[in-house]
Amino acid sequence: MSAANNYSIMVHGGAGALDNVKDDKTAFRYLESIRQVLEHGRNVITLGGSALQAVEACASLLEDDPVFNAGCGSVLNEDGKVEMDAAIMDGRDLSAGAVAAVDNIANPVQLARLVMSKSEHVMLISEGAMRFAEHCGMSRVPEDYFYTPDRIEQLHQARLQHKIMLDHDDTEEDTEDQKYGTIGAIALDPAGNLAAATSTGGIVNKRMGRVGDSPIVGAGVYADNETCAVSATGFGEDFMRSVISKTISDFIWMKEMNARQATDAGIDYLVRKVNGRGGVIVIDKAGNCASGFSTKKMIHGWIEKGGESVCRF
Ligand code: GLY
Repeated sequence: MSAANNYSIMVHGGAGALDNVKDDKTAFRYLESIRQVLEHGRNVITLGGSALQAVEACASLLEDDPVFNAGCGSVLNEDGKVEMDAAIMDGRDLSAGAVAAVDNIANPVQLARLVMSKSEHVMLISEGAMRFAEHCGMSRVPEDYFYTPDRIEQLHQARLQHKIMLDHDDTEEDTEDQKYGTIGAIALDPAGNLAAATSTGGIVNKRMGRVGDSPIVGAGVYADNETCAVSATGFGEDFMRSVISKTISDFIWMKEMNARQATDAGIDYLVRKVNGRGGVIVIDKAGNCASGFSTKKMIHGWIEKGGESVCRF
């Protein structure tokens, strides 16, 4: 890579059947959002920001977009409440911050970053995380910030069917407007630093207190300058059991794979071991971008080695 194009950025907005993307207008809405987030990440990096700053900025924008299951678009749990999980990781020194089961926060990824930089811990949950947010001067948003008509209807449907739903679900019996929702951003900056961030509202109608893979280092998020950055989206329990993000990093470290090879090996492992449903985005230390998913689709996009932004389902 030349000095001008020695950065890469990837983002995702969830995996699943995406049966709700039935027309060009809806498809455009998703892809345009992904493209704008990528270009914002490009601005952060080309203006001298780090990979860590880029992933925090990109994840925050995705949290601010109600079409994605994170931040203001978070799905509702069995009590009709929002409980969000998020994590951020810096590949320079494996420092990481995570929050789980938080509410009334517009940008959980920013709280995760504060846990990383201003506490001696890696993860804070629930009330403790909220107390820490207050301590850091982070403002609370009112409850109605989160309750979109779509999310209320989604919970209603899940309750009627007595099941949990993954935002963009595509199991045989689940065909309508469901998604394995999570958002994620990963980046490599010109200094060779990798970073990753993942944030989610989790699963529709999930049990109170359920925590998924997104805030778990090695499951929903991972970054190591010696290997790669990874963000995952899908059925969190599958990703926790297979420790998929660290497994992909290990493929690169131990088997000398590149991003493409490690992503393919990772999705193969996910499906073979736990019949896992979801996907990953991966940037290796050389700036190669790769994505893989076992669902029908995954909303994602990339800027590889400073090139044009590309957005796909
Ligand atoms: N992957 C998001 C979740 O399962 O919570």
